[in-house]
Amino acid sequence: MSQILSDKVVLITGASRGIGRAAALACADAGAELIITARTVAGLEELDDEISKAGGQATIVELDQSDHEAMPRLAQAIGNRWGRLDGFVANAGQLGQMAPMPHIDSEVFERTIDINLVSVWHQIAALDPLLRRSHAGRAVLVSSTVAHGAHAFWGGYAVSKAGLEAMGRVWAAESEQTNLRINMLNPGGTKTAMRAAAFPGENPDTLPTPEDIAPAFVWMLSGECTSQGERYRAADLI
Ligand SMILES: NC(=O)c1ccc[n+]([C@@H]2O[C@H](COP(=O)([O-])OP(=O)(O)OC[C@H]3O[C@@H](n4cnc5c(N)ncnc54)[C@H](OP(=O)(O)O)[C@@H]3O)[C@@H](O)[C@H]2O)c1
Repeated sequence: MSQILSDKVVLITGASRGIGRAAALACADAGAELIITARTVAGLEELDDEISKAGGQATIVELDQSDHEAMPRLAQAIGNRWGRLDGFVANAGQLGQMAPMPHIDSEVFERTIDINLVSVWHQIAALDPLLRRSHAGRAVLVSSTVAHGAHAFWGGYAVSKAGLEAMGRVWAAESEQTNLRINMLNPGGTKTAMRAAAFPGENPDTLPTPEDIAPAFVWMLSGECTSQGERYRAADLI
């Protein structure tokens, strides 16, 4: 792959497995230095090894999205070390409970909104100044098909992704006069643990893999992506 992200520092949340992991590998392959977060340190270490073996560089940050106070600390550490952030991929997410709206467990509903939406706001608040310091900052908020329309039983997950897209559009509108570009990416059905939990009867081999769609992230984080507040489908970018 061309070094389209060379000299860029890119933060990817939820990189211990699935789409975030593949996106991190593709970004490293394209020349970016990675900051990778998740709760599962073993998964991050494996990814770090793989990136190092391929000649890239990554920094592991054990981070639970529900720990809102960790976000300004993370931003401060990034600011101290690099002085800027060139790319932010808000990828970490949870499916929550698939059930009729009135039957969802209240704690699960609140947690799903917190992990998929509120925590991302905390990250935006903490990281926006660093992204503005980049000469071409890029943010990619990972959304879903169920953010639009009416998808029965998708519960707090659908609500959180609709909110995430609204938040991204507002942030994008406010950033029009800056070098920062903020866009949303709908990966589409992808062969991961989350997809298997949502569709247990599906043959996963019929789906694109995270590696198949990872180039979409690379392009959206590059200077070639100049749109603002757009919603892309990975299938249209690969
Ligand atoms: N797969 C699909 O078909 C599909 C379709 C549309 C949208 N998406 C979106 O794509 C993104 C990635 O999903 P995926 O399919 O790759 O799911 P996945 O395989 O379940 O991976 C989810 C990632 O999020 C992290 N995460 C979950 N809860 C977290 C928490 N509380 N704190 C920190 N990290 C947390 C996980 O790491 P730890 O467990 O180690 O913390 C993991 O790295 C999600 O935003 C999802 O909504 C996926």
